[in-house]
Amino acid sequence: MKDSLTLTPNTSAWIRQHQLGAGTFGSVAKVINHETQQITAVKYIRPNKNYEEDGEIPSTAVREVHILKELNHPNIIRLLYVDFNPDDDNILLYLECMVIDLKRYINALNHEESYTYQLLSGIEYIHSRRILHRDLKPHNILIDYAGILKLADFGLARYYHTTDRTLTHEVATLRYRAPEVLLNAPTYSMAIDVWSFGCIFAEMCTKKALFFGESEIEQLYKIFQLLGTPTVELWSELSECLYYQTLFPKWTENKLGFEMPKLNMTDSQINFLKVILIYSPKRRPMANQLLKHPYFTYPMCVEKEIRPNATVIDRAIREQQRKMINA
Ligand SMILES: Nc1ncnc2c1ncn2[C@@H]1O[C@H](COP(=O)(O)OP(=O)(O)OP(=O)(O)O)[C@@H](O)[C@H]1O
Ligand SMILES: [Mg+2]
Repeated sequence: MKDSLTLTPNTSAWIRQHQLGAGTFGSVAKVINHETQQITAVKYIRPNKNYEEDGEIPSTAVREVHILKELNHPNIIRLLYVDFNPDDDNILLYLECMVIDLKRYINALNHEESYTYQLLSGIEYIHSRRILHRDLKPHNILIDYAGILKLADFGLARYYHTTDRTLTHEVATLRYRAPEVLLNAPTYSMAIDVWSFGCIFAEMCTKKALFFGESEIEQLYKIFQLLGTPTVELWSELSECLYYQTLFPKWTENKLGFEMPKLNMTDSQINFLKVILIYSPKRRPMANQLLKHPYFTYPMCVEKEIRPNATVIDRAIREQQRKMINA
């Protein structure tokens, strides 16, 4: 592990600046090294006494470290160093420091084409290494002042094997969860990340979650209402899904072309979304195919001035800090 590290830790030299975020297993803070002035983000992961054996490292931390240390791509967060604090049993992941997550920036975001391209590039890179992220959502996507986007939070990620039939269905936040997961298909693949990507893309364009269900069944029905209830003609493995019922209400039409213009999506955005949100996981395009879609107008999608609005970012950061102080 130490070979791949680029940070020389001297724990006492790091001064905590402020909290960047909080998650299920701990918090993330910005820290500065007062000797080198290097800035990093530290993710503190506390052992979860409810679920893990006493003193055992949470499985999400093991996954995150194991996978992140293998990855090196401009659109994937870099893991710089891993440390352990014996006083509180916290595991400390030193990560390159970003400015804001997409969730908090999305309302002010423009140039969604460039961010979409970067997001897809990160997904294509992990999929080419047969890694599933399994929790793609705006909270887990980070942005910096230069307009660079990176995938983060690999706590649910895992390597994919075609023969795997023991994959958990407790993946992806409801709004971004693929229909094959919601319907409990016998297995799933990279296509689940592509579905989440489609939902995030739509949200970047419209500033609204595409499918907003409060329960698994409501989430499914929201999908069916927009895309039409799936049929075995469209998705041949549908009947193998444990939760599939022939008695599901039948919405017959795909209404993307009708509903999305009302949310100000352009024709080219809608055409791209239609290509992504395919029910059959086998027919859903892969990230490398989507990168070649004409929605991306080269070289615009990679070269255009995409610097985020610093005032908006700083306001969002202040808002976040206020919430954390009041929490
Ligand atoms: N490297 C980073 N730079 C800047 N902010 C970060 C960084 N890593 C995480 N954050 C912030 O901290 C939040 C939580 O981080 P992360 O998603 O990795 O934790 P988590 O405990 O796995 O979260 P959850 O399980 O709730 O999704 C992110 O949504 C983001 O706002
Ligand atoms: Mg997270």
